[in-house]
Amino acid sequence: MKEKKRKVLVAPSILSADFSRLKEEIVDVEKGGCDLIHVDVMDGQFVPNLTIGPCVVQSIRKTTKLPLDVHLMIVEPMRYLREFRDAGSDWITVHVEATKDLRKTISLAKKTGAKVGLSVRPRTPVSRLYPYLKDVDLVLIMTVEPGFGGQSFMEPMIEKVRDLRPRFSGLISVDGGINPETAKIAKEAGADIMVAGSSIFKEKDRKKMIHLLRK
Ligand code: DX5
Ligand code: ZN
Repeated sequence: MKEKKRKVLVAPSILSADFSRLKEEIVDVEKGGCDLIHVDVMDGQFVPNLTIGPCVVQSIRKTTKLPLDVHLMIVEPMRYLREFRDAGSDWITVHVEATKDLRKTISLAKKTGAKVGLSVRPRTPVSRLYPYLKDVDLVLIMTVEPGFGGQSFMEPMIEKVRDLRPRFSGLISVDGGINPETAKIAKEAGADIMVAGSSIFKEKDRKKMIHLLRK
């Protein structure tokens, strides 16, 4: 059977942007042809770092028409789903490890009207996702330990993408250590969305880098 060609989407992670010029940074990657803006939300508990909350998402919302792909690295995300949605999140991804009631979390996330994603950190087996695949739009495979930008890609995580691809018709995203070389490996395994922070924002020519990540 002929394999359907999947379109590769590029999602710059603003974690590596210059926060003092956040609007210009977002405008720059939008002009560079990216597809989504990836927003990393961290609570200092689920991961040892703190980033931004709904009011910053609300400000980001005003800077772009692109979908906001909000990655919640927070404990019991159901407490904040409504706020993040009202702030303008289009996609909301939660971690399977972050909640005691994943079914309820997914159901509440869907009720907000957002597209819903599930993520696994490196040490979590991909089989944890199986019971929920038919209920979500996106799966985000962490290819670094969540918490910080600029870490090295963990290639063994690509096995999770390979495992999921024939089981899941939604979008598969990879996040962490993505550069043109690792993006190629992820695409070949069946990933649709390349989340990339440092490789895009450290580069002067964002358009060129976005093109290389998509190619
Ligand atoms: C890490 C975040 C990533 C991070 C990726 O916890 O989820 O989105 O910004 O950064 P790079 O691309 O630099 O590895
Ligand atoms: Zn992320």
